[in-house]
Amino acid sequence: MTTDLSRHSSRPKKSFVVLASGSGSNFQTLIDAVENANIDAVIRALVVDRPCYATCRAADHRINYVELWRKNDVAFNVNLLTHICQNTDLIVCAGYLSIIHADVIAQFKRKIINIHPALLPKFGGAGMYGIRVHQAVIAAGESQSGCTVHYVDDGIDTGDIIAQRKVNVTPDDTADSLQQKVLVQEHQLLPAVVKQLLEQ
Ligand code: GRF
Repeated sequence: MTTDLSRHSSRPKKSFVVLASGSGSNFQTLIDAVENANIDAVIRALVVDRPCYATCRAADHRINYVELWRKNDVAFNVNLLTHICQNTDLIVCAGYLSIIHADVIAQFKRKIINIHPALLPKFGGAGMYGIRVHQAVIAAGESQSGCTVHYVDDGIDTGDIIAQRKVNVTPDDTADSLQQKVLVQEHQLLPAVVKQLLEQ
């Protein structure tokens, strides 16, 4: 009789940390992917920088969350975030609005990724977040938009692009309708990229 040792591997499960500031619908797609075993990993913790609904999702799924208040001492936040992310395989910014400190980025090179609701390098940078991104896309008369997952570097939305999904912008689109269209794509792209990176 043979035994399938691959099913009893002693390799530790991969883990990742999620950072969010808002409703956490992208965070929810990662929770779902882990719970249905599409992503073979553990969500180590959720980190938030303000009161937000994402923490309710964490609590509902028994995921620890940490509140990293922006009014805290900078060194305290850097140390706390570094500690939380130690020995994890990936750090996923899923609608996280704070800029991650350069010291944290330096310690976790090419381990921090972000999802942005536009086709970078267009419509990124300071002030380009939330509905503002979609308003700018409509104002510019673009025929396409979409979402981008990229590595986080020292700039704002400037890190290497990992993957993108496109949507068509139609004449009747408003910033709100475009946001909804793009969000549908974000919910598919983010778990797919996290899965791919954790399987490397
Ligand atoms: C998403 O559009 C994401 O791309 C952007 O912020 C939004 C967060 O949405 N960075 P949610 O909190 O995941 O619902």
